[in-house]
Amino acid sequence: MKRVAILISGSGSNMVALAESMVGDHPARPVLVLSNVPGAGGLAKAEALGIPTALVDHKRFGKDRAAFEAALQAELDKVQPDILCLAGFMRVLTEGFVSSWEGRMLNIHPSLLPKYRGLNTHARAIEAGDAEAGCSVHEVTAELDGGPVLGQARVPILQGDTADTLAARVLPMEHRLYPAVLRRYAAGDRTPLHLP
Ligand code: GRF
Repeated sequence: MKRVAILISGSGSNMVALAESMVGDHPARPVLVLSNVPGAGGLAKAEALGIPTALVDHKRFGKDRAAFEAALQAELDKVQPDILCLAGFMRVLTEGFVSSWEGRMLNIHPSLLPKYRGLNTHARAIEAGDAEAGCSVHEVTAELDGGPVLGQARVPILQGDTADTLAARVLPMEHRLYPAVLRRYAAGDRTPLHLP
């Protein structure tokens, strides 16, 4: 059974989708939900699901990323996860931390990678006049949002869409895609998955 730690910064809706999927014959179980933001909505949701939680407030470390990541790693060492899932975790991790978890860390990104790495993905897709948008689950490498894509889900961009209306159409697809990819990944299957 694989042990999964989920890193969040916000409301944790992807964390809940992942946690609720890891039951029955699923090859993994959640062992920790960790936030870098005090009071992040996802912490209370994790506690309600009976998952241990931890807080490593990045603000305590100012610009000292190495110290922040050492504190992060210390919390992870307590639960010995096999896989890290970044789920709305908004800190960019250093190359050193990423390389120590390479091949064992996933992230969900709200665009059809390699298009629109970084922030404001929905506004940029609308601005560009794209016909469709979506989300991607990828392995995390030192290249921001640049690791191998293991799954994608597409949605249409509709006339009059705003970034918010598009985000509301993409988020339910994230909640389907991320658990589906994690189940395969925990079983050692890295073949890309495309959700209709
Ligand atoms: C999601 O849209 C995710 O793709 C992005 O941040 C948002 C987090 O949502 N990285 P939640 O915290 O999982 O609800």
